[in-house]
Amino acid sequence: MLEIGRRFELAGRAAAAGRVELAAFEVGELGELVDDDLPRAELPKEGPTADLAGKADAFARAVVPDLLGAAKGREPGAFAAAFARTAAACNDCHQASGHGFVEVPSVPGKPVPAMDPVGAQP
Ligand code: HEC
Repeated sequence: MLEIGRRFELAGRAAAAGRVELAAFEVGELGELVDDDLPRAELPKEGPTADLAGKADAFARAVVPDLLGAAKGREPGAFAAAFARTAAACNDCHQASGHGFVEVPSVPGKPVPAMDPVGAQP
């Protein structure tokens, strides 16, 4: 999961810097990790245990391809929109699994997970 976060951060930073090929590469690597890592994410022993397998599946089949398509399209506005949709899906699963404190920023170019001081403007 840590490496998924790292790839997502790098994809966003690359896109923010106009490095579109690098952004697409990082999203591709992220997609490979999602297939390998997400099924192994450590789920809470108690508390909220919503349908995480279903969320993982939807993430791999819909969210990652959406982001990859946007990265390959090389249109910054479309990439930023897909990045925000992806971050929302990341955060949805974190909340559902009791890890809502792992906040994924919705804007490309920021650290993943969010490390802004609590109370600062996002
Ligand atoms: C299917 C559910 C699910 C999805 C989707 C998901 N995560 Fe996670 N994530 C988890 C769980 C559960 C944890 C905590 C346990 C773990 O790390 O295995 C976690 C932890 C993390 C961590 C902290 C890892 C650490 O060890 O410090 C990061 C960073 C992270 N996720 C990033 C992301 C990003 C970025 C995305 C979207 C691109 C994403 N996650 C999508 C379930 C998910």
